Amino acid sequence: MTFTPKFPKDFLWGGAIAANQAEGAYNEGGRGLATSDILEYVVMEKRVDHKRPFPSADEIRHILETENTRYFPRRHGINFYHTFKEDIKLFKEMGFKTFRVSIAWSRIFPNGNDELPNEEGLQFYDDLFDELKKHDIEPLVTLSHFETPLNLSLQYGGWVGRELVDCFARYAETVFTRYKDKVKYWITFNEINASLMTPYVSSGLIRDAVGEEGLLAAKYQIAHHQLVASAKAVELAHRIMPGAKVGCMVIGMIYYPQSAHPDDVYQALVDQHKTFFYTDVQARGEYPTYMKRFFAENNITIKMEPGDKEILKNNLVDFVSFSYYMSGVSARSESAEETEKVMGNVLSSIKNEFLDASDWGWQIDPVGLRTLLNMFYERYRKPLFIVENGIGAYDKVEEDGSIHDPYRINYLRGHVEQMKEAIGDGVELLGYTTWGPIDIVSSSTSEMAKRYGFIYVDQDDMGNGTKKRLKKDSFYWYKKVIESNGEEL
Ligand code: BG6
Repeated sequence: MTFTPKFPKDFLWGGAIAANQAEGAYNEGGRGLATSDILEYVVMEKRVDHKRPFPSADEIRHILETENTRYFPRRHGINFYHTFKEDIKLFKEMGFKTFRVSIAWSRIFPNGNDELPNEEGLQFYDDLFDELKKHDIEPLVTLSHFETPLNLSLQYGGWVGRELVDCFARYAETVFTRYKDKVKYWITFNEINASLMTPYVSSGLIRDAVGEEGLLAAKYQIAHHQLVASAKAVELAHRIMPGAKVGCMVIGMIYYPQSAHPDDVYQALVDQHKTFFYTDVQARGEYPTYMKRFFAENNITIKMEPGDKEILKNNLVDFVSFSYYMSGVSARSESAEETEKVMGNVLSSIKNEFLDASDWGWQIDPVGLRTLLNMFYERYRKPLFIVENGIGAYDKVEEDGSIHDPYRINYLRGHVEQMKEAIGDGVELLGYTTWGPIDIVSSSTSEMAKRYGFIYVDQDDMGNGTKKRLKKDSFYWYKKVIESNGEEL
């Protein structure tokens, strides 16, 4: 007998962007500088060991002193700050039920620790959320997506500084109070586990702020501060907006053992724990024992304040969300060293001979999504939300303005099919927001050439172009998927 799973009637189809990659207008409306504003366009080699930005305070000051001679793509994004009304119209045309955006913290508190919020910044998001409401699109809002007010990095070293917990709580309280009638779904930190790989980009850590304990200890201190800040935000959200749903968010990576060798299988579990650590704390409320052991074995002492454990325990998230682009492979150390590596979404991995990869080397694995959904659901029994998924690709505009992107349609179709299977397995899935439904600046490379959108933006890596929006073939495909609630793929 065949079994045909279906998407639930109220399934939230949509797309996701981040303020620092889309808004632009970095010096308008009273916005302060953010950590993302000093990242320059870099031509990235397609290899694993590329350098992640990790500046010192002096280097940041030097960049600012010489800013006139440099180009910072994220200061300009795709000008969404000024075009959001027209862009949202296009999302509506595709039938979006939800749209994930992030708030730029430095639009609300330009220095991160100001006495009072910036009214112009608050008004901008009022206008954005009103526009979404007008089109019946449910906002899904991330509080912190790879940007921290730059001042907090210079003053406290970024999230390694305990001060940021209170600054963040004040920011969260301010936006919850302001938007309580407009936004129901919230995410605290984007890819909270990314700090292990990109501590500056995701948490504003600067080199000078790494203490004697070393970088690894600093990364886990950041984790503790963000986990406490996230739990405080959950507490505030539930108090200020009783109907609100708050989620955690991680890079959803699934690791396969390279072989059936028991040590490879165990290594896959160890690698998986690096992600589960965060969701375990946020969904179950306490540090798992495997992490306490890891800290002891690595001489890491997490500095906690009285009350931290209770805050974590009493403020669990309502849903678990994650990004999914690729899967990884784990191997015991002797064999890992000899194996070919591939690039990935923040994380890099060992090559999987069974999988194809994108032009950027990210391994394409739709079935991995089904497995991961099952793993998350069995572990937490909480609703899940896939809040990023997509393929970065080079697109070509034909003479008549059309853009044929079968590679994107194939990638997304494969993943939607597997989501449906996971729903058939019993997974409770709230929704699916594809990454970059409109082309935006890439996070890892600051390129424009790496495109995820259903909507093409006529703009190159250096910001040249008309910024005109064009519909790709995938635009019409996704519209049909939403219209048929995932029946026509
Ligand atoms: C995720 C981030 O890591 O991957 C996004 O949350 C990012 O901000 C996305 O854009 C895709 O990565 P990239 O580097 O291709 O833009």
